[in-house]
Amino acid sequence: MTDAPFEIRAAGEDDRLPLALLFAAVAEERDGIATEPPVDLEECAARWTLEATLVAVADGEIIGLLDVDESRFGFGEIGMLVARDWRGRSVGGALLAAAIEWARDRGLHKLSLGVFAHNAAAIGLYRKFGFVEEGLRVKHYRRANGELWDRVEMGLLL
Ligand SMILES: CC(C)(COP(=O)(O)OP(=O)(O)OC[C@H]1O[C@@H](n2cnc3c(N)ncnc32)[C@H](O)[C@@H]1OP(=O)(O)O)[C@@H](O)C(=O)NCCC(=O)NCCS
Repeated sequence: MTDAPFEIRAAGEDDRLPLALLFAAVAEERDGIATEPPVDLEECAARWTLEATLVAVADGEIIGLLDVDESRFGFGEIGMLVARDWRGRSVGGALLAAAIEWARDRGLHKLSLGVFAHNAAAIGLYRKFGFVEEGLRVKHYRRANGELWDRVEMGLLL
């Protein structure tokens, strides 16, 4: 299982609902991404920006996603997640490597992102690829349970 194959490819029209379902599943964890339940699946699927989304696919199923929100100012902001059962098997790293290549090809000069300060897995992944911590937004996100979570800003010059 550890070496189960997966591929990284650009997202397509047929991926809308699977993307929304995976996003909603990770939102249910209330831990790694900012969005918390409920996720309106139809709306999420309809609004997804496919052009700047990479997906990881195993056995025809989407097991990870990464989207780059490209600004007009030369940087792109990343959001990403991997299905819980697939974490720790290099899927996130493969998505990030592909995104860095994509961003360089697009002529972006920088990738940036925000990550919850407690998210050791994500911070470890970003550091591994050369992202550095650029700042801390204190008590930035109010969670549904009333907690206020810090956000670490990270960036990679391309
Ligand atoms: C963060 C996330 C995308 C990482 O994806 P992944 O597929 O598990 O990551 P990989 O297996 O490719 O790991 C790559 C590197 O990340 C780091 N890493 C991964 N999991 C880690 C963990 N639990 N603790 C510390 N570092 C970790 C390591 O440097 C690892 O490299 P190594 O295998 O050589 O040690 C995944 O944990 C996830 O989807 N979490 C929930 C959603 C989320 O937090 N998204 C990010 C929001 S900013």
